[in-house]
Amino acid sequence: MSEGSRIPGFYKLGLAERRAVISARAHVDLADLEHALEAGGLDTATADKVVENVLGIYGLPFGVALNVRVNNTDRLVPMVVEEPSVIAAASNAARMIRQSGGFRAEVVESLMIGQVQITDVEHPAEAVARLEAATERLLELATKAVPNLIVRGGGPRAIDVRDLGQRCIVLHVLVDCRDAMGANLVNTIAEAIGPTTAEIAGGKLGLRILSNLCDRRRVHATCRVHARELVSAPRSTKGGEGGNSASAGDLDGLEVVDAIVSASRFAELDPYRAATHNKGIMNGIDAVVLATGNDFRAVEAGAHAYAARSGRYAPLALWRRDGEDLVGELELPLSLGIVGGTLRVHPTARLALKILGVTSADELAMVAASVGLASNLSALRALATEGIQRGHMSLHARSVASAAGALGDEVELVAARIATDGLITVEAAERTLAQLRGRSAVTLA
Ligand code: MEV
Repeated sequence: MSEGSRIPGFYKLGLAERRAVISARAHVDLADLEHALEAGGLDTATADKVVENVLGIYGLPFGVALNVRVNNTDRLVPMVVEEPSVIAAASNAARMIRQSGGFRAEVVESLMIGQVQITDVEHPAEAVARLEAATERLLELATKAVPNLIVRGGGPRAIDVRDLGQRCIVLHVLVDCRDAMGANLVNTIAEAIGPTTAEIAGGKLGLRILSNLCDRRRVHATCRVHARELVSAPRSTKGGEGGNSASAGDLDGLEVVDAIVSASRFAELDPYRAATHNKGIMNGIDAVVLATGNDFRAVEAGAHAYAARSGRYAPLALWRRDGEDLVGELELPLSLGIVGGTLRVHPTARLALKILGVTSADELAMVAASVGLASNLSALRALATEGIQRGHMSLHARSVASAAGALGDEVELVAARIATDGLITVEAAERTLAQLRGRSAVTLA
């Protein structure tokens, strides 16, 4: 098995060392990497051209999840997120999962949906039949609207028409957007075929816009973890890769498996829990979506609409026991791009794709979904055992120790002490650091 995304002790390295390691592993020029990461990669002059009324730039941490292996390929996964422990938690769960071979993922279809709304339709059933009969003509019109997409091998693929009642019908045009997220392409097509659609239907043209419930562009990811992995992860006080991982306390591996399955059932039974369960999944997915310059609002809208598709809001990922293994499964709509959009202007998003090494939007979706599943596992494991606060507190302790001036190995020592004492303040960390350094000085003398 390639060790490409496995870098033990990575979190203990200084920032410059971490950059050097990733540059070497991902075959990205170190100067390019540094340039793309300094100040978030975007300068104010560029930002001023991206949106309106610009005053400046808002920064977020850019980190990398380790240990991720999807369909036998190791991936270093850039993540942009402000919440402590998300990257550590994903890395930690991915480490357990890679022991059983890593994630398996696939993209189920890859079609975006453009909607054309027609109102005031006299005879909806007949209008639907006429539109269905005009499929070829409408697809031809749609094809002419996106010549560059056709050159890239994509294009409109099918038409689907529904009577919504109240004299309103909607036509869906299904579009293969290849490696683009596809919003502009789909909107262009919807607008191009709108007038003809209205004419054929004998109604009034309404909205022409993509649907973010892109349930014809879904990604499916699964993973398997042996019970023993769930109790052998590093203790939470170590931070880094094990940052959000609870120790399993007094439970044995199979008890942890059962506790996670019970947590999954809780989400299946209760939409209030399902929302938080899904939030844990989106912690991982959104961070990858943001790092790679994709539209996280679109992804969020699609994920939650899909979660409610049965009429009852449900968890996007389920966990079951299979012998001594815990098996997880996640499916959601995910429209991501590796060309166009933000990538045109944002060097950090381009860098993220280079570090990831994906060559298609489908590959990116499979990695993002896998990281979502890892985030979910880490959260459930912590919640089902000792709770998440301890892991969060120990990570918080590390940042407090750093703020107090601790360096290198001192960070872990100071963090462990203030976490154990339950006094996680900069003052307590400074006192502990002074004591530690005093002791080292005596030892050295
Ligand atoms: C916190 O960002 C995410 C969790 O609440 C997810 C969950 O409860 O499953 C820990």
